[in-house]
Amino acid sequence: MLEDLKANNRAWAKRKIAADAGFFQRLESQQAPKYLWIGCSDSRVPANEIVDLDPGELFVHRNVANLAPPQDANYLSVLQFAVDVLKVEHILVVGHYGCGGVKAAVDGKRRGLVDHWLHPIREVNHDHRQELESISTGHERHNRLCELNVIRQVRNVASDVFVQDAWARGQTLSVHGWVYSLHTGLINDLDVTVGSLDEAERLV
Ligand code: CO
Repeated sequence: MLEDLKANNRAWAKRKIAADAGFFQRLESQQAPKYLWIGCSDSRVPANEIVDLDPGELFVHRNVANLAPPQDANYLSVLQFAVDVLKVEHILVVGHYGCGGVKAAVDGKRRGLVDHWLHPIREVNHDHRQELESISTGHERHNRLCELNVIRQVRNVASDVFVQDAWARGQTLSVHGWVYSLHTGLINDLDVTVGSLDEAERLV
């Protein structure tokens, strides 16, 4: 079963060792990533690959439409571990243009459980309806909603108590909002970086 994947894995491990004999031994003892990636589950947006980082360099949390909901125990567990234990220096909230989750949130079709998951995006859509309605094409409107969703999630992360406590005790930590283009393979930095309690205050 899945022999092709197992063969891929053996070839990959071999390449890694050929390039750096101690690669796996070093990682086995500890991980010390500087970055937490909060991204979409979409198969076209593979976290490590896009920013060309090795295993051990990126702590990753992915879900449908890259949400950071303050009541989600999975996301909160990842966030707390990343901030309190790993002491990552950067949290990257990474959306992508053409996100199916963002589309599904506002197309009015019923899909079941995921409609509840996507509820925060309908709130973003509602809060920014004036700006969004002024955009003439559906494609551009959708892409702007992808950006606005990332900005909202940056705000969620920056207002979280784990992050706020880290800033209060002087820990170096920044939260960034990026959107990845499936079309070009490039990241667009939305320039909404928050790196202190003061900046978080201004954002809200
Ligand atoms: Co997506």
